Amino acid sequence: MGLFKKSTKKKLADAAEAISAQVSDAVAVVEEAATEAIAAAKEVIAEHNADEAAAEEAVVVEVTDEEPAAEAEVPAAEEAPAEVQKSAEPEEEPAVECAADECAECAECAACVAADSLSMLRVIDHPLVQHKLTIMRDIKTGAKDFRQLLDEIAMLVGYEVTRDLPLCDVEIETPLMKMTGKAIAGKKLAIVPILRAGLGMVDGLLRLVPAAKVGHIGLYRDPQTHAPVDYYCKLPDDIQNRLVVITDPMLATGGSAIEAIRMLKEKGCTDIRMMCLVAAPEGVAELYKAHPDVPVFTAALDEKLNERAYIVPGLGDAGDRLFGTY
Ligand code: PRP
Ligand code: URA
Repeated sequence: MGLFKKSTKKKLADAAEAISAQVSDAVAVVEEAATEAIAAAKEVIAEHNADEAAAEEAVVVEVTDEEPAAEAEVPAAEEAPAEVQKSAEPEEEPAVECAADECAECAECAACVAADSLSMLRVIDHPLVQHKLTIMRDIKTGAKDFRQLLDEIAMLVGYEVTRDLPLCDVEIETPLMKMTGKAIAGKKLAIVPILRAGLGMVDGLLRLVPAAKVGHIGLYRDPQTHAPVDYYCKLPDDIQNRLVVITDPMLATGGSAIEAIRMLKEKGCTDIRMMCLVAAPEGVAELYKAHPDVPVFTAALDEKLNERAYIVPGLGDAGDRLFGTY
C-alpha cells in the first residue's frame, strides 16, 4: 500500500500543479523586470560613456588650443593677439552647461536642478549601511528583521547627520587630573518622523541623542495623484530653536518631505535636515527646488520612479514592510 490514499495523492498532485503554475508566472514577472532593469542600466552606462567621451574631447581641445602659445610661435606675451593673451590667463571655472536642448534658463531646467541638487545630497556608502540596506530590500525579509535593520541604519546614518554639531569646551576632572573636554554646544535636537514609516528611524537616532524631543507629522500619499495629504501634526513648543531632523525612509516624488519641511518652516524652524534610506533622483531634485537649504542624507540614491511613483529598485512600500500591513 502507498504512503497516501488515492484522493490525497490527487490533492497533492493538484497542489503541485498550482504551485508550478504560480512559480512560472513569478519567473515571467521577474524576467520582465530584469530585462527592463538591464535596459535602463545600459542607457545610464551609455549616457555616462558619452559624457566621459565629451569630457576627454574637451581636454584634448584645451591642450591643442594652448600649443600655439608656445614661445617659438608667439614673440612675447604682451605682443600676442588678444585671444592668445586671453587663453594664457588662468581660466575661470567653466559654467555648467545645460544638458536639456530646450533649456532657456540653466538654473531652472530639470537637468541643471538635478545636477545642483546633488550638492545637498549625502549618500552614506558605509559598508555596514549598504549591507543592511541590501537585506532590507530583499523581498524575503520579513517585518521583524526589516524593523531591526531600519533601526540600525538610522543610527549609522544619524552618526553622519550629526557629524558637524558644534562643540564647546567644558572643564572636568578625571580620577587623575583636571582637563578641558568637549561637549555638544548650541541648539538642541528635535526628531520629526513622517508617519508612518519615519517612526522606524526614531529609536536609532534617540540612541545617539537621548535628550532629543520628538514631534510627529502625519502624511500619506494620495494613491491617484501621489500628492501628500496632511492628517496630523504635533511638534515640541520650542521646535523653532532646535535643529530638526526629519525621518522618512522613502524620498520618492519628494512631495511628503517638501510638505513636512513647509510645515516646519511655518513654525519658524530654520535648521532642518532630511534623513532617509532610499531616494529617487526625481524627488531629490524637487526637494532641492522647493527647499535648497535642507541637506538630505540617504543610504542610497536609486535609479528612478516607476509609473506608480514607487522608487525602483527600491524596497516596496516602507510603511507596509515595517508594520507588516501587506
Ligand atoms: C511613503 C513614505 C513617504 C512617502 C514618500 O509613505 O514613507 O512618506 O510615501 O513618497 P513621496 O516622496 O512621493 O511623497 P505613505 O504615503 O505610503 O504613507 P504610510 O507610511 O503611512 O504608508
Ligand atoms: N513610498 C514607499 O513606501 N515606497 C516607495 O517606493 C514610494 C513611496
